[in-house]
Amino acid sequence: MAKDKTLYTCSECGASSPRWLGKCPGCGAWNTLVETVAETPGAGKNRLSGAQYAGLAPAQQVVPLSAIEASEVARTATGLAELDRVLGGGIVEGGVVLIGGDPGIGKSTLLLQALDALQHLGLPVLYVTGEESGAQVALRARRLGLAASQVQVLAEIQLEKILATVDAVQPAVCVIDSIQTIYSDQLASAPGSVAQVRECAAHLTRLAKASGIAIVFVGHVTKEGAIAGPRVLEHMVDTVLYFEGDTHSSFRLVRAIKNRFGAVNEIGVFAMTEQGLKGVTNPSAIFLSQHSEPVPGSCVLVTLEGTRPLLVEIQALVDGGGVSPRRLSVGLDRDRLAMLLAVLHRHAGVACADQDVFVNAVGGVRISEPAADLAVLLAITSSLRAKPLPKGFIAFGEVGLAGEVRPAPRGQERLKEAAKLGFTVAVVPKANAPKKPIAGLTIHAVERVEQAMDAVRGLA
Ligand SMILES: Nc1ncnc2c1ncn2[C@@H]1O[C@H](COP(=O)(O)OP(=O)(O)OP(=O)(O)O)[C@@H](O)[C@H]1O
Ligand SMILES: [Mg+2]
Repeated sequence: MAKDKTLYTCSECGASSPRWLGKCPGCGAWNTLVETVAETPGAGKNRLSGAQYAGLAPAQQVVPLSAIEASEVARTATGLAELDRVLGGGIVEGGVVLIGGDPGIGKSTLLLQALDALQHLGLPVLYVTGEESGAQVALRARRLGLAASQVQVLAEIQLEKILATVDAVQPAVCVIDSIQTIYSDQLASAPGSVAQVRECAAHLTRLAKASGIAIVFVGHVTKEGAIAGPRVLEHMVDTVLYFEGDTHSSFRLVRAIKNRFGAVNEIGVFAMTEQGLKGVTNPSAIFLSQHSEPVPGSCVLVTLEGTRPLLVEIQALVDGGGVSPRRLSVGLDRDRLAMLLAVLHRHAGVACADQDVFVNAVGGVRISEPAADLAVLLAITSSLRAKPLPKGFIAFGEVGLAGEVRPAPRGQERLKEAAKLGFTVAVVPKANAPKKPIAGLTIHAVERVEQAMDAVRGLA
């Protein structure tokens, strides 16, 4: 097959060169040239201007927004309730989903289970495996108890062959495992390169939109945890899901980072078992470690993930540092930790300047909401003073640079969930204090960090 001419185009300014250059000849930026396919002569017509367009194509009718009928998107629930929750109710016709996560976390497992469930509903489904052979996929299916599954499997990595097969099979849902292994004949660069991933994803996305086939891409992640390849991949797709969780524990979280068809930050919780991933329907208490008695440096936070309150234990260890003390956090933002330590010093008079400070969110869960601030500060002071917080204690609230404690969204729901799980004492922002008391829960409403410290000291 004759190859189209290859061009190198700058991702910043769009200038192109027939050779790869380290420095863009257009804008002078470094390392911005990526391989692209040279446009066919016809494509250049788009650059015509003004009246010249009229000769090429008739002007199209425009319609006011109000005249367009807004039909609800057609969704198919997979039957895996936790997956449906993050997808916003199910797989959307013509929708494109990208699912990323660490190696071995369970991406292929989850998607194989989902395809099998969809196939049981009578939908034609296709699993394109670029990473494993058909035999390996069959072996996994057997382990998952899906030996008799009618999921169609294609072991292929060449884009053109995949497109032709998808067109012929016309599945309702097609999984591409993984997008980084697929390559197009049109580009000379290796599979997984920025140009290949972008080109292959763009072709498949176009196919999804044109044919109504829902496509799910599995994406590799970089060492830092971001989806490997071009950033544009996340813009191209409708939904981005990330697998989170500590591979050493059996719990896995799937979080919606972007969703054009549903809420973001919604999470689905699964447990990895011999028979695959099983949804955890009531996950509020799984991120608590079991201490028989309260221990210093531990504070339970009620966080809100998507639409669901979760109780997560925040652990802190403050220990004698050296000349340059360390601040380390797992599952929480490190810059925010440094800021909180400064607030603690300035407004509550608690100094950790000469101490190492380690903070951890139990269970491998990642917490990005600022409502975790108060729990982090209370865990740190508890560790520093070697005094545990009272039994059955929870906290939440955002802490500002001026030392103020700001309300967290949907405080009532958080408090009710904590009460339901048997927690008895809470320190929360004043604006989150409920008007009517919550049975079994004593609430201390605070407006400032120093008040929170005093409230806790009074409880001990
Ligand atoms: N016999 C088994 N019993 C329990 N769990 C198993 C068993 N075999 C595999 N697993 C689990 O399945 C995981 C592999 O899942 P899977 O292959 O779906 O991951 P993945 O995210 O697709 O990985 P990759 O990025 O390598 O493709 C293993 O890490 C392990 O946790
Ligand atoms: Mg896999």
